Amino acid sequence: MKKLKANFQDRSYDIFYQLGLIDKTGTLIKPLKTDKKVVIVSEANIKKLFGSKLEKSLKQSGFKFSWVLLRGGQEKTLAEIERLYHLFAKQNLSRHSVVISLGGGSVQDLACFAAATFKRGLKLVQIPTTLLISSDVSIGGCAVDLPEGKSLVGTFYQPVLVIQDVALLKGLPDIIYRDGLAEIIKYSINAGFFDQLEKDFVKLIKRDLKVVEKYVYLSNKIKKELTEQDERDCHDIRIQVDLGHTISHALEAIMNYKISHGQALGIGLRGAVLLSEMSGGLSKTKRERVEKLIVDSGLPYTLPKGVTYAELIKHIKKDKKCYGNKLVFILIKDFGQLTITHKVHENMVKKVIDLIK
Ligand SMILES: NC(=O)c1ccc[n+]([C@@H]2O[C@H](COP(=O)([O-])OP(=O)(O)OC[C@H]3O[C@@H](n4cnc5c(N)ncnc54)[C@H](O)[C@@H]3O)[C@@H](O)[C@H]2O)c1
Ligand SMILES: [Zn+2]
Repeated sequence: MKKLKANFQDRSYDIFYQLGLIDKTGTLIKPLKTDKKVVIVSEANIKKLFGSKLEKSLKQSGFKFSWVLLRGGQEKTLAEIERLYHLFAKQNLSRHSVVISLGGGSVQDLACFAAATFKRGLKLVQIPTTLLISSDVSIGGCAVDLPEGKSLVGTFYQPVLVIQDVALLKGLPDIIYRDGLAEIIKYSINAGFFDQLEKDFVKLIKRDLKVVEKYVYLSNKIKKELTEQDERDCHDIRIQVDLGHTISHALEAIMNYKISHGQALGIGLRGAVLLSEMSGGLSKTKRERVEKLIVDSGLPYTLPKGVTYAELIKHIKKDKKCYGNKLVFILIKDFGQLTITHKVHENMVKKVIDLIK
């Protein structure tokens, strides 16, 4: 079985990759030190699809389990976290209890935040069910939103196990599947596998599962490597995974989270390549190649009507990367070569926003 080892001293863990792996969940959790109590955090539609497989596997390995079903939707609120705390308390979960997050990024962020903070930390197992969160599975952190902005409240936290079964992505509606292509394009720029991705893109869009697994693996590999070097995001290394997210997070907040993370990221990435070209790093040809993949993904390419520069810049200034009066941007010099700068002037951001209108 293909695997990645995430190295964080005494908090190291494995990320396993195999089609049909959900059936082995119980076997994979069994060697971990647990109290045999499992809470599965998910959504009703996801439980319906994969619940019986997961239950069967947990039963076979002697685990007691219960389900907590979230409301679903993009919004991740502190009210939903509080609801999880009360349910965890009702079950009398201990620090050796397991929280399985079965779902997309919304489920994962809520499950992770609650698991990280209840009794100061339960054991978190992640089973991603969207392409977006498979490729951008939480390695080291999670966050929830405030009305003031996206992902403003969060924590650094490592899971104890990640189960990557891309067969779970086969039936995703196209519109949700596409969101994940934005994260994979981003990681291909981070890690420099963009040329390869370009060649495989049609197969990836058609969900050739071997190809899907390959790009989920490559995306996780670079996220893991950057996080291992800078777990708490303070050395300008891990921040690179935020490429394209400055504009996209602002856009999500303005739209009151009615736009998906992946759709906003497609637009944010376009902003990032334009800004990178304008600031003299990225060549025009490479900027156009990235834009082509965004178009081929079927992701939106321009800002939704009515979104103004004034609103965007107001939210960009609240981004978790920014401080003082400084705008912090991640720029691309070349594929696999990124820089962090606080020297981008507001005029340049305005020019880019005008171009993506
Ligand atoms: N903590 C992190 O590392 C991290 C990384 C990336 C994104 N995120 C967050 O993730 C969120 C977006 O996640 P997402 O794009 O996965 O969306 P999502 O979790 O909101 O899921 C989108 C929809 O897909 C449905 N769904 C999920 N799996 C399915 C399946 N297999 N088949 C059919 N339907 C399915 C869900 O019920 C939901 O309606 C954003 O809030 C973003 O901020 C967090
Ligand atoms: Zn993202």
